[in-house]
Amino acid sequence: EWTPDSFVETTIAALKEKLGDDKVVLGLSGGVDSSVAAVLLHHAIGKNLHCIFVDNGLLRKDEFQSVLDSYQHMGLNVKGVDAKQRFYDALNGLSDPELKRKAIGRVFIEVFDDEAHRIEDVKWLGQGTIYPDIIESVSVKGPSATIKSHHNVGGLPDFMKLKVVEPLNTLFKDEVRKVGRTLKIDENILGRHPFPGPGLAIRILGEVTPEKVQILQEADAIYINNLKSAGLYNKVWQAGTIFLPVQSVGVMGDERTYENVVCLRAVESLDGMTADWCHLPYDVLAKISNEIINNVKGINRVVYDISSKPPATIEWE
Ligand code: XMP
Repeated sequence: EWTPDSFVETTIAALKEKLGDDKVVLGLSGGVDSSVAAVLLHHAIGKNLHCIFVDNGLLRKDEFQSVLDSYQHMGLNVKGVDAKQRFYDALNGLSDPELKRKAIGRVFIEVFDDEAHRIEDVKWLGQGTIYPDIIESVSVKGPSATIKSHHNVGGLPDFMKLKVVEPLNTLFKDEVRKVGRTLKIDENILGRHPFPGPGLAIRILGEVTPEKVQILQEADAIYINNLKSAGLYNKVWQAGTIFLPVQSVGVMGDERTYENVVCLRAVESLDGMTADWCHLPYDVLAKISNEIINNVKGINRVVYDISSKPPATIEWE
Protein backbone atom coordinates (compact mmCIF):
# COMPACT_ATOMS: atom_id res chain seq x y z
CA GLU A 1 0.00 0.00 0.00
CA TRP A 2 1.26 3.48 -0.94
CA THR A 3 2.03 5.80 1.95
CA PRO A 4 3.86 9.12 1.79
CA ASP A 5 6.39 7.87 4.36
CA SER A 6 7.29 4.75 2.44
CA PHE A 7 7.45 6.76 -0.79
CA VAL A 8 9.87 9.24 0.78
CA GLU A 9 12.06 6.48 2.19
CA THR A 10 12.31 4.39 -0.97
CA THR A 11 12.66 7.41 -3.26
CA ILE A 12 15.52 8.93 -1.29
CA ALA A 13 17.33 5.58 -1.24
CA ALA A 14 16.80 5.13 -4.99
CA LEU A 15 18.00 8.68 -5.74
CA LYS A 16 21.17 8.13 -3.68
CA GLU A 17 21.87 4.96 -5.59
CA LYS A 18 21.16 6.50 -8.99
CA LEU A 19 22.99 9.82 -8.51
CA GLY A 20 25.95 8.89 -6.32
CA ASP A 21 28.23 11.94 -6.21
CA ASP A 22 26.77 13.53 -9.36
CA LYS A 23 25.54 17.11 -9.45
CA VAL A 24 21.94 17.98 -10.35
CA VAL A 25 20.52 21.33 -11.47
CA LEU A 26 16.82 22.07 -10.91
CA GLY A 27 14.62 25.07 -11.70
CA LEU A 28 12.32 26.02 -8.82
CA SER A 29 9.08 27.81 -9.65
CA GLY A 30 7.65 28.45 -6.20
CA GLY A 31 4.98 25.84 -6.91
CA VAL A 32 4.28 22.57 -5.15
CA ASP A 33 5.84 20.13 -7.62
CA SER A 34 9.26 21.65 -8.12
CA SER A 35 9.53 22.36 -4.38
CA VAL A 36 8.76 18.78 -3.36
CA ALA A 37 11.10 17.40 -6.03
CA ALA A 38 13.87 19.68 -4.76
CA VAL A 39 13.46 18.68 -1.13
CA LEU A 40 13.53 14.97 -1.99
CA LEU A 41 16.69 15.46 -4.03
CA HIS A 42 18.19 17.55 -1.27
CA HIS A 43 17.64 14.73 1.22
CA ALA A 44 19.35 12.34 -1.16
CA ILE A 45 22.35 14.36 -2.37
CA GLY A 46 22.54 17.52 -0.21
CA LYS A 47 24.69 20.29 -1.63
CA ASN A 48 25.12 18.48 -4.95
CA LEU A 49 21.64 19.71 -5.76
CA HIS A 50 21.88 23.20 -7.29
CA CYS A 51 18.52 24.97 -7.47
CA ILE A 52 17.82 28.01 -9.60
CA PHE A 53 14.87 30.28 -8.92
CA VAL A 54 14.32 32.92 -11.58
CA ASP A 55 12.58 36.22 -10.92
CA ASN A 56 10.87 36.89 -14.24
CA GLY A 57 9.21 40.06 -12.90
CA LEU A 58 5.84 38.40 -13.48
CA LEU A 59 5.28 36.85 -10.08
CA ARG A 60 2.78 37.94 -7.44
CA LYS A 61 3.62 40.83 -5.13
CA ASP A 62 6.66 40.08 -2.91
CA GLU A 63 6.52 36.44 -3.93
CA PHE A 64 10.08 36.11 -5.21
CA GLN A 65 11.64 37.18 -1.93
CA SER A 66 9.26 35.32 0.35
CA VAL A 67 9.52 32.07 -1.58
CA LEU A 68 13.30 32.40 -1.83
CA ASP A 69 13.41 32.88 1.95
CA SER A 70 11.37 29.73 2.55
CA TYR A 71 13.65 27.75 0.25
CA GLN A 72 16.68 28.97 2.13
CA HIS A 73 15.06 28.09 5.45
CA MET A 74 14.57 24.57 4.16
CA GLY A 75 18.33 24.38 3.67
CA LEU A 76 18.19 24.17 -0.12
CA ASN A 77 21.22 25.23 -2.10
CA VAL A 78 19.29 27.81 -4.14
CA LYS A 79 20.37 30.71 -6.26
CA GLY A 80 17.87 33.51 -6.89
CA VAL A 81 18.36 35.13 -10.27
CA ASP A 82 16.97 38.59 -11.00
CA ALA A 83 16.07 38.45 -14.68
CA LYS A 84 13.15 40.89 -14.58
CA GLN A 85 14.58 43.27 -17.13
CA ARG A 86 15.36 40.50 -19.63
CA PHE A 87 11.76 39.37 -19.53
CA TYR A 88 10.35 42.90 -19.77
CA ASP A 89 12.63 43.65 -22.73
CA ALA A 90 11.51 40.48 -24.49
CA LEU A 91 7.85 41.35 -23.90
CA ASN A 92 8.20 44.93 -25.02
CA GLY A 93 5.78 45.64 -27.88
CA LEU A 94 4.17 42.18 -27.85
CA SER A 95 0.43 41.88 -27.38
CA ASP A 96 -0.42 38.54 -28.97
CA PRO A 97 -0.89 35.89 -26.24
CA GLU A 98 1.07 33.17 -28.06
CA LEU A 99 3.95 35.50 -28.89
CA LYS A 100 4.07 36.56 -25.24
CA ARG A 101 4.21 32.94 -24.08
CA LYS A 102 6.92 32.10 -26.62
CA ALA A 103 9.05 35.08 -25.62
CA ILE A 104 8.79 34.12 -21.96
CA GLY A 105 9.68 30.49 -22.69
CA ARG A 106 12.68 31.54 -24.74
CA VAL A 107 14.06 33.92 -22.11
CA PHE A 108 13.49 31.35 -19.40
CA ILE A 109 15.60 28.86 -21.31
CA GLU A 110 18.33 31.43 -21.94
CA VAL A 111 18.51 32.44 -18.29
CA PHE A 112 18.42 28.87 -17.06
CA ASP A 113 21.08 27.80 -19.54
CA ASP A 114 23.37 30.66 -18.48
CA GLU A 115 23.02 29.66 -14.86
CA ALA A 116 23.38 25.92 -15.45
CA HIS A 117 26.65 26.68 -17.25
CA ARG A 118 28.10 28.18 -14.11
CA ILE A 119 27.84 24.88 -12.27
CA GLU A 120 30.88 22.78 -13.02
CA ASP A 121 30.41 19.16 -14.00
CA VAL A 122 26.67 19.04 -13.65
CA LYS A 123 25.28 15.76 -15.02
CA TRP A 124 21.55 15.81 -14.35
CA LEU A 125 18.52 18.04 -14.81
CA GLY A 126 16.01 17.58 -11.99
CA GLN A 127 12.34 18.21 -12.79
CA GLY A 128 9.11 18.24 -10.81
CA THR A 129 7.15 16.46 -13.54
CA ILE A 130 4.16 14.60 -12.10
CA TYR A 131 2.18 11.72 -13.59
CA PRO A 132 -0.65 13.77 -15.19
CA ASP A 133 2.01 15.90 -16.95
CA ILE A 134 3.09 12.76 -18.77
CA ILE A 135 -0.33 11.44 -19.65
CA GLU A 136 -1.72 14.74 -20.88
CA SER A 137 1.43 16.16 -22.36
CA VAL A 138 -0.73 18.64 -24.27
CA SER A 139 -1.45 20.48 -21.08
CA VAL A 140 1.93 20.09 -19.43
CA LYS A 141 2.53 23.15 -17.35
CA GLY A 142 5.51 24.94 -16.03
CA PRO A 143 9.13 25.14 -17.10
CA SER A 144 9.04 21.52 -18.29
CA ALA A 145 6.31 22.46 -20.77
CA THR A 146 8.36 25.30 -22.12
CA ILE A 147 11.34 23.05 -22.48
CA LYS A 148 9.38 20.41 -24.35
CA SER A 149 7.93 22.80 -26.87
CA HIS A 150 11.46 23.78 -27.84
CA HIS A 151 12.73 20.24 -28.34
CA ASN A 152 12.82 20.38 -32.10
CA VAL A 153 14.01 23.93 -32.56
CA GLY A 154 17.53 22.64 -33.21
CA GLY A 155 20.64 23.66 -31.28
CA LEU A 156 19.43 22.44 -27.92
CA PRO A 157 20.41 24.51 -24.89
CA ASP A 158 23.26 22.84 -23.03
CA PHE A 159 21.23 21.90 -20.00
CA MET A 160 18.98 19.79 -22.19
CA LYS A 161 21.86 17.50 -22.96
CA LEU A 162 21.76 16.50 -19.31
CA LYS A 163 20.20 13.28 -18.11
CA VAL A 164 16.80 13.88 -16.56
CA VAL A 165 15.74 12.85 -13.06
CA GLU A 166 12.04 13.17 -12.17
CA PRO A 167 11.32 11.78 -8.70
CA LEU A 168 7.58 12.60 -8.78
CA ASN A 169 6.66 11.18 -12.16
CA THR A 170 4.46 8.43 -10.72
CA LEU A 171 2.43 10.72 -8.45
CA PHE A 172 -0.80 12.70 -8.67
CA LYS A 173 -1.04 16.20 -7.24
CA ASP A 174 -2.73 15.18 -3.98
CA GLU A 175 0.00 12.59 -3.41
CA VAL A 176 2.67 15.23 -4.06
CA ARG A 177 1.08 17.38 -1.34
CA LYS A 178 1.07 14.44 1.09
CA VAL A 179 4.72 13.76 0.36
CA GLY A 180 5.40 17.46 0.90
CA ARG A 181 3.74 17.31 4.32
CA THR A 182 5.82 14.27 5.29
CA LEU A 183 8.87 16.30 4.28
CA LYS A 184 7.58 19.19 6.45
CA ILE A 185 7.52 21.68 3.62
CA ASP A 186 5.87 24.99 4.52
CA GLU A 187 2.08 24.86 4.16
CA ASN A 188 2.39 28.22 2.45
CA ILE A 189 4.09 26.46 -0.46
CA LEU A 190 2.08 23.21 -0.38
CA GLY A 191 -1.31 24.88 -0.27
CA ARG A 192 -0.76 27.53 -2.87
CA HIS A 193 -3.05 27.93 -5.84
CA PRO A 194 -1.77 26.86 -9.25
CA PHE A 195 -0.04 29.73 -11.02
CA PRO A 196 0.81 29.75 -14.73
CA GLY A 197 4.46 29.66 -15.82
CA PRO A 198 4.09 32.90 -17.85
CA GLY A 199 2.72 34.46 -14.67
CA LEU A 200 1.06 37.84 -14.67
CA ALA A 201 2.02 38.34 -18.33
CA ILE A 202 -1.03 36.32 -19.36
CA ARG A 203 -3.20 38.15 -16.82
CA ILE A 204 -2.37 41.50 -18.40
CA LEU A 205 -4.32 41.47 -21.63
CA GLY A 206 -2.31 42.97 -24.45
CA GLU A 207 1.06 44.57 -23.96
CA VAL A 208 2.88 44.00 -20.68
CA THR A 209 4.68 46.90 -19.04
CA PRO A 210 6.37 47.04 -15.62
CA GLU A 211 3.81 49.70 -14.58
CA LYS A 212 0.87 47.42 -15.36
CA VAL A 213 2.58 44.54 -13.54
CA GLN A 214 2.92 46.71 -10.48
CA ILE A 215 -0.72 47.83 -10.53
CA LEU A 216 -1.88 44.25 -11.00
CA GLN A 217 0.36 42.99 -8.18
CA GLU A 218 -1.21 45.49 -5.78
CA ALA A 219 -4.78 44.65 -6.76
CA ASP A 220 -4.07 40.92 -6.71
CA ALA A 221 -2.47 41.09 -3.25
CA ILE A 222 -5.61 42.76 -1.88
CA TYR A 223 -7.77 40.09 -3.49
CA ILE A 224 -5.72 37.12 -2.25
CA ASN A 225 -5.27 38.53 1.27
CA ASN A 226 -9.02 39.05 1.57
CA LEU A 227 -9.70 35.49 0.43
CA LYS A 228 -7.31 34.31 3.12
CA SER A 229 -8.77 36.44 5.89
CA ALA A 230 -12.31 35.38 4.94
CA GLY A 231 -11.24 31.73 5.20
CA LEU A 232 -11.94 31.20 1.49
CA TYR A 233 -8.45 30.76 0.02
CA ASN A 234 -8.29 27.02 0.65
CA LYS A 235 -11.84 26.48 -0.62
CA VAL A 236 -11.04 28.03 -3.98
CA TRP A 237 -9.01 25.96 -6.45
CA GLN A 238 -7.46 28.97 -8.13
CA ALA A 239 -7.93 32.72 -7.96
CA GLY A 240 -6.31 35.66 -9.65
CA THR A 241 -6.78 39.16 -10.92
CA ILE A 242 -6.77 40.18 -14.59
CA PHE A 243 -5.77 43.60 -15.91
CA LEU A 244 -8.14 44.52 -18.72
CA PRO A 245 -7.08 46.72 -21.62
CA VAL A 246 -10.09 48.93 -21.09
CA GLN A 247 -10.49 52.35 -19.53
CA SER A 248 -13.74 53.61 -18.17
CA VAL A 249 -15.06 56.80 -16.64
CA GLY A 250 -15.35 57.13 -12.89
CA VAL A 251 -15.54 59.81 -10.23
CA MET A 252 -13.22 60.30 -7.29
CA GLY A 253 -14.11 63.13 -4.90
CA ASP A 254 -15.36 65.71 -7.39
CA GLU A 255 -12.93 64.72 -10.11
CA ARG A 256 -13.75 62.72 -13.19
CA THR A 257 -11.38 59.78 -13.67
CA TYR A 258 -10.65 57.70 -16.75
CA GLU A 259 -8.80 54.62 -15.61
CA ASN A 260 -8.38 50.87 -15.96
CA VAL A 261 -10.55 47.93 -14.98
CA VAL A 262 -9.44 44.79 -13.15
CA CYS A 263 -11.38 41.56 -13.18
CA LEU A 264 -11.45 39.08 -10.31
CA ARG A 265 -11.45 35.39 -11.21
CA ALA A 266 -12.03 32.49 -8.80
CA VAL A 267 -12.77 28.92 -9.84
CA GLU A 268 -13.50 25.53 -8.37
CA SER A 269 -11.89 22.63 -10.17
CA LEU A 270 -10.26 19.24 -9.67
CA ASP A 271 -7.57 19.36 -12.31
CA GLY A 272 -7.99 22.59 -14.26
CA MET A 273 -9.48 20.73 -17.23
CA THR A 274 -12.97 21.93 -16.36
CA ALA A 275 -13.87 24.61 -13.85
CA ASP A 276 -16.84 26.41 -12.34
CA TRP A 277 -16.77 30.02 -11.27
CA CYS A 278 -16.99 30.38 -7.49
CA HIS A 279 -20.04 31.92 -5.88
CA LEU A 280 -18.01 34.15 -3.58
CA PRO A 281 -20.11 35.96 -0.95
CA TYR A 282 -21.24 39.44 -2.04
CA ASP A 283 -19.95 41.06 1.14
CA VAL A 284 -16.46 39.71 0.51
CA LEU A 285 -16.57 40.88 -3.11
CA ALA A 286 -17.75 44.31 -1.97
CA LYS A 287 -14.90 44.67 0.50
CA ILE A 288 -12.31 43.61 -2.08
CA SER A 289 -13.69 45.99 -4.69
CA ASN A 290 -13.65 48.95 -2.29
CA GLU A 291 -10.16 48.21 -1.10
CA ILE A 292 -8.80 47.91 -4.61
CA ILE A 293 -10.44 51.06 -5.92
CA ASN A 294 -9.49 53.10 -2.86
CA ASN A 295 -5.89 51.92 -2.69
CA VAL A 296 -4.65 51.05 -6.15
CA LYS A 297 -3.89 54.07 -8.24
CA GLY A 298 -4.87 53.52 -11.85
CA ILE A 299 -7.90 51.31 -11.15
CA ASN A 300 -11.39 52.78 -10.88
CA ARG A 301 -13.54 49.73 -11.62
CA VAL A 302 -13.62 46.08 -10.53
CA VAL A 303 -15.65 43.33 -12.20
CA TYR A 304 -16.17 39.63 -11.41
CA ASP A 305 -15.85 36.83 -13.97
CA ILE A 306 -18.88 34.52 -13.94
CA SER A 307 -17.76 32.21 -16.77
CA SER A 308 -17.09 28.51 -16.41
CA LYS A 309 -14.72 26.26 -18.36
CA PRO A 310 -15.69 25.21 -20.95
CA PRO A 311 -16.42 27.27 -22.94
CA ALA A 312 -14.31 29.94 -21.21
CA THR A 313 -10.83 29.03 -19.97
CA ILE A 314 -9.47 29.78 -16.52
CA GLU A 315 -6.90 32.27 -17.77
CA TRP A 316 -7.95 35.00 -20.19
CA GLU A 317 -4.99 34.50 -22.52
P1 XMP B 1 -6.71 27.42 -18.84
O1 XMP B 1 -6.59 28.89 -18.97
O2 XMP B 1 -6.18 26.69 -20.03
O3 XMP B 1 -5.79 26.99 -17.62
O4 XMP B 1 -8.11 26.99 -18.48
C1 XMP B 1 -5.80 25.72 -17.01
C2 XMP B 1 -4.76 25.72 -15.91
O5 XMP B 1 -3.45 25.81 -16.49
C3 XMP B 1 -2.78 26.98 -16.05
N1 XMP B 1 -2.06 27.51 -17.23
C4 XMP B 1 -0.74 27.45 -17.40
N2 XMP B 1 0.24 26.97 -16.62
N3 XMP B 1 1.86 27.58 -18.22
C5 XMP B 1 1.53 27.07 -17.02
O6 XMP B 1 2.44 26.67 -16.30
C6 XMP B 1 0.94 28.08 -19.07
O7 XMP B 1 1.27 28.57 -20.14
C7 XMP B 1 -0.43 28.00 -18.63
N4 XMP B 1 -1.58 28.38 -19.18
C8 XMP B 1 -2.58 28.08 -18.31
C9 XMP B 1 -3.86 27.89 -15.56
O8 XMP B 1 -3.35 28.82 -14.57
C10 XMP B 1 -4.85 26.92 -14.97
O9 XMP B 1 -4.44 26.47 -13.68
